Amino acid sequence: MNSRVVKIAIPVVGASVLLVVAFVGWFVISAWWSNPPPVLGFGEGPEQPIAFPHTVHVSDAGLDCQFCHRTVSTDEAATIPAVAQCLFCHGFDKIDGRLSTSETAQEELAKLIADLGEPQQPINWNRVYRLPDHVQFVHAPHIQQGISCSTCHGEIGEMQVVKQVRNLKMRDCVDCHRDNGAPTDCSTCHY
Ligand code: HEC
Ligand code: HEC
Ligand code: HEC
Ligand code: HEC
Ligand code: HEC
Repeated sequence: MNSRVVKIAIPVVGASVLLVVAFVGWFVISAWWSNPPPVLGFGEGPEQPIAFPHTVHVSDAGLDCQFCHRTVSTDEAATIPAVAQCLFCHGFDKIDGRLSTSETAQEELAKLIADLGEPQQPINWNRVYRLPDHVQFVHAPHIQQGISCSTCHGEIGEMQVVKQVRNLKMRDCVDCHRDNGAPTDCSTCHY
């Protein structure tokens, strides 16, 4: 390569790199601008009183979402399973190495058992998804229309800790309703 080619090549390459950087930057910023992440819930999910991993239960043990979130296709709330349902698999007799193989599992399950006491105390799970009280959301019609959990909650079965992945702000709800012929009048979602 002669030096004149190099002299021309350097600014050309430099300018292209700058252009690419500017382009990517613009994309990132505009994507954020059109769909800004809400302040809470995104990023990392809240810490839970017991490190309950959906990964192990859904992806490894192969449990169906509705095995635990029983009312999701019939009611407003999906509901979190009661302790008694955990004990169906994690009862006292099963804690000694039979069901739990890892040390973390042993520790977490011991917490679960310790929390039970007498009489049984419910576990105070921290909410990940939470709409304001003036908004009405009902799971049932969504599930009955064949909208999958992952459409709104992401791939829960791959999450060690549940975190929010979709903002589900008013615009998000209304956009989907409009696109799918679902009602968009205020009283649909507001009391
Ligand atoms: C159309 C979006 C959408 C779909 C589809 C959806 N959810 Fe939800 N889910 C939400 C919203 C919004 C909330 C928060 C509701 C509130 O705060 O009142 C929520 C809350 C929850 C909660 C915690 C509160 C509760 O209702 O008990 C669980 C558990 C849950 N969803 C599980 C599921 C499962 C399992 C499925 C699939 C069978 C599913 N969701 C499908 C939007 C959705
Ligand atoms: C249908 C059976 C079943 C039910 C119901 C069940 N689990 Fe599990 N759980 C398992 C299996 C299988 C494992 C994997 C055990 C192992 O190999 O460590 C597991 C593992 C765990 C672990 C350890 C995870 C790790 O890191 O290895 C915790 C904590 C746990 N379960 C909590 C709960 C809680 C809390 C509930 C109730 C909300 C619950 N489980 C309900 C079957 C179940
Ligand atoms: C073994 C029982 C079990 C199974 C199976 C299970 N979950 Fe859960 N789920 C829980 C428990 C316990 C919590 C509360 C602790 C947490 O947030 O991790 C929870 C929390 C959630 C939340 C967050 C609720 C909130 O606070 O807003 C969502 C969303 C959810 N589950 C969706 C699903 C989906 C989707 C599936 C199937 C892919 C599924 N779950 C399978 C037990 C289960
Ligand atoms: C992925 C698309 C989608 C998203 C996101 C969505 N919805 Fe829906 N929603 C639907 C569809 C489709 C129906 C209509 C079901 C039917 O026709 O029975 C529906 C029905 C409803 C209903 C029952 C309406 C009625 O009277 O039958 C309520 C309430 C509701 N949605 C509230 C919400 C709220 C609040 C949000 C946001 C937190 C939301 N939806 C997000 C698709 C969505
Ligand atoms: C499909 C569901 C849906 C419909 C339809 C809907 N909203 Fe909402 N709205 C929500 C949700 C979810 C929130 C809470 C999240 C947020 O602030 O965006 C909300 C929040 C609000 C708020 C509070 C905003 C704030 O900053 O706290 C007002 C005011 C409001 N809606 C008015 C309306 C009016 C007026 C209509 C009719 C033109 C309407 N909504 C229709 C879902 C809906």
